[in-house]
Amino acid sequence: MEVLLALATLLVASALATGINTMATIASQREKACNPRMGNLAIGRRIWTDTVCGSNSTELYCAYTDYPDQTCKEPKCDKCSAAVPRLSHPASAMADSTFKNPRTWWQSARDVQREIVQLNLEATFYFTHLIMVFKSPRPAAMILEGSQDFGLSWRPYKYFSTNCTQSFQLEDDVNVKGAPCTSRYSQAVPCSGGEVIYRTMSPPYSAVDPYSEKAQDQLKITNLRVQLLKQQRCPCLNKSLDVKPQSLAHYAVYDFIVKGSCFCNGHADHCVPTDGFRQVRTTSKLQVVHGNCICKHNTAGPHCEQCAALYNDKPWKAANGKTGEPNMCEKCKCNGHADSCHFNMDVWLASGNRSGGVCDNCQHNTEGIHCQRCKQGFFRDFQIPFSTPEACKGTASSSLSSDA
Ligand SMILES: *[C@@H]1O[C@H](CO)[C@@H](O)[C@H](O)[C@H]1NC(C)=O
Ligand SMILES: *[C@@H]1O[C@H](CO)[C@@H](O)[C@H](O)[C@H]1NC(C)=O
Ligand SMILES: *[C@@H]1O[C@H](CO)[C@@H](O)[C@H](O)[C@H]1NC(C)=O
Ligand SMILES: *[C@@H]1O[C@H](CO)[C@@H](O)[C@H](O)[C@H]1NC(C)=O
Repeated sequence: MEVLLALATLLVASALATGINTMATIASQREKACNPRMGNLAIGRRIWTDTVCGSNSTELYCAYTDYPDQTCKEPKCDKCSAAVPRLSHPASAMADSTFKNPRTWWQSARDVQREIVQLNLEATFYFTHLIMVFKSPRPAAMILEGSQDFGLSWRPYKYFSTNCTQSFQLEDDVNVKGAPCTSRYSQAVPCSGGEVIYRTMSPPYSAVDPYSEKAQDQLKITNLRVQLLKQQRCPCLNKSLDVKPQSLAHYAVYDFIVKGSCFCNGHADHCVPTDGFRQVRTTSKLQVVHGNCICKHNTAGPHCEQCAALYNDKPWKAANGKTGEPNMCEKCKCNGHADSCHFNMDVWLASGNRSGGVCDNCQHNTEGIHCQRCKQGFFRDFQIPFSTPEACKGTASSSLSSDA
């Protein structure tokens, strides 16, 4: 299992990481597109589920353990109770360390057919892939969906079913490449330890600039949910008739790994907690992926989605993850007399697309789009550089200076 997971993680060496590795060689000396490190977005955040095993009272359940040799062993039975830590299987158990021993898991209430496992993020993040490891048999049908507007609207990423036609009237990607549904991850076997893997972008990743608008539309999320729609029995079930079948009817998930990173448009390699974010207690030392970018390339904003105040001489652009081009924001020419500027398309076009910055609130008695001249009634003191605050003198000080 660990080997499989590690392999999956390697294989899925994300679009973002690939983009960054490529450009490391192209532009090692100068600024380049960058991205904060990837991690599991579920860590340090609350995972929501509709039900939990033993939420009202102690429940009996039975389950098959991993059986790598595909032989059916007797199911093991135990009790669960949300009120007793030793017997509880809360949703948070899906986001603790994968290597914890004994393994922890979330378990649904008995006999539920429909369940939702949901992760709500406090900001926009990149989502590159999902790995779920089931303890129960995987669902016979499920849907993975994402939201980019904090849950107002959802769109499906992928449908999963033992029979895509029957469940969703969709083609199966086992038969039709790129189809929205797949039967790859829906078999009842293995009865424990079955994985579901989803990649936001299909290979080859290197062909795509991860910060292009098209890629971003696929990669960005604020919420992720998995609808579990139909349980299925382990085929071993009928060999152990002494166990009541309903004791085996539940969903159980060991791991819910949502790989992704902070969303910085290629302009940051480090992020800090978003304002007001409250981290869920984690038992492990696993690192939380935070959502507020520490911007480089003269950019600003929680996602480096704009140019810094005095750097609007060119239109803002995301960095290019494929070529490594940082697409830096450039400083306006304000001669040291303004703290901010704004981009103006007419000025930009008039300059032959070289400079479009217009300085805001010229100080020190200056005016002009670059604060390049003294205001009326003030005159230039040629003894000192124009960039000094005293460069434009009023009449009062002028008489003083002429007296001197
Ligand atoms: C727990 O109790 C609530 C309210 O009494 C009920 O609606 C719910 O179905 C119960 N859940 C289970 C799993 O029995
Ligand atoms: C899926 O279901 C359809 C319609 O119910 C059926 O015709 C088809 O044979 C099934 N496919 C498989 C692979 O079981
Ligand atoms: C037991 O399972 C096998 C294989 O899944 C199936 O062919 C058989 O009909 C089942 N027997 C009973 C009694 O359900
Ligand atoms: C200048 O920029 C405008 C707007 O971005 C663009 O439509 C135009 O083709 C550019 N002109 C040149 C000469 O690059």
